[in-house]
Amino acid sequence: MSGLVTLHGLGRERLTGILDKAEGYVGRGPSTDFSGATVTNAFFEPSTRTRLSFERAAHRLGAHVMSFSPELSSASKGESFKDTILTLTAIGTDVLIVRHRLADAAALAAGWSARPVINGGVGSREHPTQTLIDALTLRQEFGRLDGLRMAIVGDIRGSRVARGHLIALPTMGVELTLVGPTPFLPQENPWGVRTSTDLDDELGDVDVVYLLRIQAERGSAATIPSIAGYARRYGMNAERLSMMKPTGVVMHPGPMNRGVEIDDSIADGERSLVLRQVANGVPVRMAVITEALEGGR
Ligand code: CP
Repeated sequence: MSGLVTLHGLGRERLTGILDKAEGYVGRGPSTDFSGATVTNAFFEPSTRTRLSFERAAHRLGAHVMSFSPELSSASKGESFKDTILTLTAIGTDVLIVRHRLADAAALAAGWSARPVINGGVGSREHPTQTLIDALTLRQEFGRLDGLRMAIVGDIRGSRVARGHLIALPTMGVELTLVGPTPFLPQENPWGVRTSTDLDDELGDVDVVYLLRIQAERGSAATIPSIAGYARRYGMNAERLSMMKPTGVVMHPGPMNRGVEIDDSIADGERSLVLRQVANGVPVRMAVITEALEGGR
């Protein structure tokens, strides 16, 4: 069984292998490689990019997709997360993709289900496929990951995307700096990365500014004095872009709060990789589903 619950413990060779496999899927048309297989999207939290790109990835591989929506399911009648996972497995799936507000949800599901589980983003813990997508996008842009410098800016404390990046990007040679107001910076720093409360100080040194959304649904907005003040100090705008190297790029995992962490001119500008990140969701998820299905057979 070879799902993807966490990037913890995956070495550089393994991570690079997934990126290479994903690169091989870029631009590839539909196949029947896994016809007869079933991939189940067990999403207990909202999603546009992750859910739909897993769905498209599964279709591209010839697999069927079963989609679970909590509001239309017996979860709305009180059925437990465990019983839902066991039920989806019993109905018949070859791989389960789990998104949930609980940080342990993917690990728990992997313990309960006899099928491989892929983490589609859990709590504030980790979003492994987003990290792989961003690594692939950067490798395409710069031709390498080694030696790149990235500032992750914003609500890092509440961000599963930032956690995944902290686990895996340094393994692949990316140097990270965490930037934001103190309430958004992690209280502990087991990764030993640089932290800063001053974005303008960092801009000249980095190749990538990676912006994060304020996680209002996790209560983050209440920890800073004002959203407008945050936008003034940390929002990426034309003036701040001009302080970066001419080759510097801007990334965001989405969904974006335009006018808060990113101005329209930056989000839609030629140095934004945002839509390339979204597009790379399909080949990366094809690679991860392939590994899960091959391991599950
Ligand atoms: N980046 C990301 O996880 O977006 P969704 O919530 O739309 O899936």
